[in-house]
Amino acid sequence: MPPAIDIAAGDLRLRYEPDAEGRLRQIGFRVIPESAIPEHGSPIERGPFPAEAFPLAFPAWGEETGALTALRLDGHDGRPGCYLTLTGYERDGQEHRIRLADARAAIEVTLCLRCWDADQVLEQWAEVSHRQPGPVTLHELAAAAPVVLAPRPWLTRYIGDWAGEWQPTTGALPLGVTTVQSFGAVRPHLQATPFFLLGTDGSADETAGSAIAGALAWGGGIRLAFERQARQPGQVRVIAGHNPALGPYRLDPGVTFRTPAMLWAWSERGTRPLTQRLHRWVRAHAVRDGSRLRPVVFNTWEAAYFNFDQASLTAMMAGAADLGAELFLLDDGWFGTEFPRDDDDAGLGDWQPDPVKLPGGIGSLTAAARGHGLRFGLWVEPEMVNPASVLYREHPDWVTGEPGRPRRLDRNQLVLDLCQPPVRDFAAGAVHRVLAESPDVSYLKWDANRDISEPGSAALPADRQSNLWIDTVLARWQIMAEIAQRWPDTEMMLCASGGGRTDLGTLRWFHEVWLSDNTDALTRLRMQWEAGRYLPPQAIAAHVTRWGDQDLTFACAVAMSARFGFDLDPASLTPAELTICQRAARWYRDVRDLVQLGDMFRLIAPETGRAALGYADPGRRRLVVFGYQLEDADAGAAGGPCPVAGIDEDLDYRVRQFSLTADEEQDISIRSGRELLTSGLSWPLDAARTAAIWRLDA
Ligand code: DGJ
Repeated sequence: MPPAIDIAAGDLRLRYEPDAEGRLRQIGFRVIPESAIPEHGSPIERGPFPAEAFPLAFPAWGEETGALTALRLDGHDGRPGCYLTLTGYERDGQEHRIRLADARAAIEVTLCLRCWDADQVLEQWAEVSHRQPGPVTLHELAAAAPVVLAPRPWLTRYIGDWAGEWQPTTGALPLGVTTVQSFGAVRPHLQATPFFLLGTDGSADETAGSAIAGALAWGGGIRLAFERQARQPGQVRVIAGHNPALGPYRLDPGVTFRTPAMLWAWSERGTRPLTQRLHRWVRAHAVRDGSRLRPVVFNTWEAAYFNFDQASLTAMMAGAADLGAELFLLDDGWFGTEFPRDDDDAGLGDWQPDPVKLPGGIGSLTAAARGHGLRFGLWVEPEMVNPASVLYREHPDWVTGEPGRPRRLDRNQLVLDLCQPPVRDFAAGAVHRVLAESPDVSYLKWDANRDISEPGSAALPADRQSNLWIDTVLARWQIMAEIAQRWPDTEMMLCASGGGRTDLGTLRWFHEVWLSDNTDALTRLRMQWEAGRYLPPQAIAAHVTRWGDQDLTFACAVAMSARFGFDLDPASLTPAELTICQRAARWYRDVRDLVQLGDMFRLIAPETGRAALGYADPGRRRLVVFGYQLEDADAGAAGGPCPVAGIDEDLDYRVRQFSLTADEEQDISIRSGRELLTSGLSWPLDAARTAAIWRLDA
């Protein structure tokens, strides 16, 4: 048994030690400056204090009074006690497994940590198994439960709703427990996103202060709890995992239950390095094909809703190609034979093309798209069914619900019960068939538009109905994994009524996320700003729409700072609007390698009434900067210059300023990197909803 377990992830140091009774204590969870990292050994020592003076690494129910727990279960005999001691430690490369057990209860818990040194990201999860004579009832098992040293903790978290995702709440963490939670298994992140930022010594900004970012990679209900006790106000226990309020999980002997992964990134020098590290990690390990450029997408939803046919779509393709799109995405409404999907009240579950709207099938559409130089994509919602469908007529028992009780409709639809193996096979098979029957479909938008109410699964016995909240997500991930594996070249957008599934676990099978149905450029910019702290811009789909009858110049500039696309009827554009959209698509293609794959610099935060974002190539030779005026500036009080970052002070840059309303470049000048870093770019905007774009080339 090692006396201490030292784990290093980049400049983060963790030390665990057993106390006199063998219970595991967390001695340190500390970011240390690179200069102070010794070559050997750990700089985190417990000094003269006994291990008992330090917090339990993974407190179980009943071990500590008056504090949050990381593990709570009832044994097969109904007894709640589980007292864990350290039984082993293994290391395999960058993966560490710390084994804890309660020998009397025959329960084993493994704390798992994977250090992504190159990206300075730490991944943590926990596993539990037992050898009791029958199932145990698992009330909660945290993915991670570290105690973070934080003299003045400052928490930023995100609450939301449909069309109102990613609303930040930020402030000093009060004493007691602060909980962020979401419920359900379908669109939980509409309520609360599984990402947060914890400033350890007050609020950190982009370039100063120390902060830790956390992200729970789970597509179901989550709970993030932050506990600050009066007796230790400088420490914050963070407990992250499934939301225990959804009910217990019955776990059979010999089965290993694994929590979702918790990802951590940190920085002592402001939040910028943390964001850039997370972006790199997500590109390399979370999102699919993270180093591949994304196309300019044209989507039909807000352009046509359910009202289209083959002729109108073909005409729209011509418009999409003329705008500069590269991929034509046919959203909802293309399917249903006996129950055509002319509205949201019919057709879900029947994944054959509507023969009336589309007599030539999908094949004639992909051919038409090809003729216009466009790739083709389709929308699916494979986890749902309308009662008005052939599927429901044949399998009314394939939906979630309680036997003998009415099933409540939401958006006129019901949720398929993925815990039933034949239903899971149907949903996976439906997606496979759509792709197999139309080999030219190279993009899929996967949607989900209602939550589970009256929960119940015919596949689960009465004593484990609440396993549904976890098993549904795992079954869905299994389907998504199969699709991703079988169709490696098909790009996929993750959507659940907008950003209902914005998590790093589900994102593994996808290329991007539809952040919200709200595409008002001002609101969207704020959402992109928040989400962009954690997700790289190429994974954030941003489309120009008519939402709110908005000015398209500003909407284009906002969409250009993420994965650009359109969701509007080209025939509705005035000649001036068409020119602006075409120009935006053309310029975007010129700089998309920077936006999608470069390093992001968050230059001015939207709270100031302005916002600015820069994107630089790794060699610091090319940059694009987007400046946004969000509110009218007071007369004579236009903002100061736009700061510049991500350039080399020893190089000279050609600086050009563009506005989407004119083709000419303005302000062509040559400036030294050093001077740009000191003086910035002069800010040309004062009216609300206006934007400027700069390009800097060494
Ligand atoms: C909700 C999505 O967020 C929209 O973009 C659209 O795909 C509709 N569903 C279609 O029903």
